[in-house]
Amino acid sequence: MQPLIAYPAGSLSGDCRVPGDKSVSHRAVLIGALAIGETTVRGLLEGEDVLRTLAAIRALGARAERTADGAWHIRGVGIGGLGEPEDVLDMGNSGTAARLLLGVLAGHPITCFMTGDHSLRSRPMNRVADPLRRTGAEIATRSGGRLPLMITGAADPVPITYRPPVASAQVKSAVLLAGLNAAGETTVIERSATRDHTERMLRHFGADFRIAEVEDGTAITVTGQPELTASAIDVPADISSAAFPLVAALLTEGSRVTFPGIGMNPGRTGLLQTLHEMGAAIEQTNARQAGGEPVADLVVRHGALKGVEVPAERAPSMIDEYPILAVAAAAATGRTVMRGLAELRVKESDRLAAIAGGLAACGVDVEAGEDYLVVDGRGGRPAGGNARAVASHYDHRIAMSFLVLGTAAEKPVLVDDGRAIATSFPGFLPLMRSLGADIRSAEAEGTAP
Ligand code: S3P
Repeated sequence: MQPLIAYPAGSLSGDCRVPGDKSVSHRAVLIGALAIGETTVRGLLEGEDVLRTLAAIRALGARAERTADGAWHIRGVGIGGLGEPEDVLDMGNSGTAARLLLGVLAGHPITCFMTGDHSLRSRPMNRVADPLRRTGAEIATRSGGRLPLMITGAADPVPITYRPPVASAQVKSAVLLAGLNAAGETTVIERSATRDHTERMLRHFGADFRIAEVEDGTAITVTGQPELTASAIDVPADISSAAFPLVAALLTEGSRVTFPGIGMNPGRTGLLQTLHEMGAAIEQTNARQAGGEPVADLVVRHGALKGVEVPAERAPSMIDEYPILAVAAAAATGRTVMRGLAELRVKESDRLAAIAGGLAACGVDVEAGEDYLVVDGRGGRPAGGNARAVASHYDHRIAMSFLVLGTAAEKPVLVDDGRAIATSFPGFLPLMRSLGADIRSAEAEGTAP
């Protein structure tokens, strides 16, 4: 355990350079491994989750090296060219790594064993295993569709049309990645749009995609067996990581923080829309494209927030941001209602329960239902001063959210364990400190639980 304590801070200021986008980084590594030639990736997130994807593609026969300038060079083997690994593929804490890689493996006639950490071994894999079996892959999971699992991909995968029962970019991506090695067209029909990083990157590498509005949603079709040509990728800064210092700046008086090069994929910007509706002053400048993704610089100033209703339809575009939105809601005036949150129950932790438990411990009025959250903010600094540490459940976003709460609270907030932060945001603590936050090791302070 690495207990941390966040003390109330004054204003935050400066330039906040957050690391590369996690979703784009996983895809750059996986698609680079399937391309012919050398893909150069700049700004790759070097968090534990992406390092797992890198280790997996190496075990499968692709090459990946980091040069002194920080760029990653991935030598791909071509679609269908991955080879059987000698050992179990351990995807650590990363659902994206596990599910996207299963899609890739479904189109390779090799047998692989996959596992993950305690959290990942409890997360549902049938949402990808079910459609991938229809392409001809054989998948045997533990009971309840859990890891560890064994997959033997199809030598001649079948192109399918699939309607995911949940709004999930991971499921969509797994099916499309499996379709890369199928002869013919693979289609995913989405009822609500999810992040389209896979589609954008495959296009960038030369794959042929068609998007069409159909009766029951949007049909995304990839033509199988394209030649993917190695390419250069500039990974945008991760909006889901920026969300933490961004909300910290919004909530602390006198703050002004700039965020250069943030990814602004419309499938990811639901938090900005919601904060805007709450009255936040977030300026977007210098809009541009990087590696097929929209990017902009953000300038964030402190300002009073008011409670809002967040509609269920917005959930896919801010699915990872509810923990930090709940913290913003705790400092807003009035009630914030967030609906359509069933998926939060199966993230790195049961995030609905973790948010509710943490907020209650910090003196915030909160109610969690099966798929909704209601937070009553009191307009100004939440109380903080929790006697028992906030339980982060080895979930990076829960740990960071409550450290932000402590930064913006009346009294310090103690979080039981900050180790999971390294899965997505290595450098979070020094970066927050450089802006003016006061987050310390609780062990060194003698305040560890
Ligand atoms: C991701 C999709 C989301 C998100 C995750 C990353 C991706 O998961 O929560 O952090 O990169 O495709 P779901 O697709 O399961 O909603």
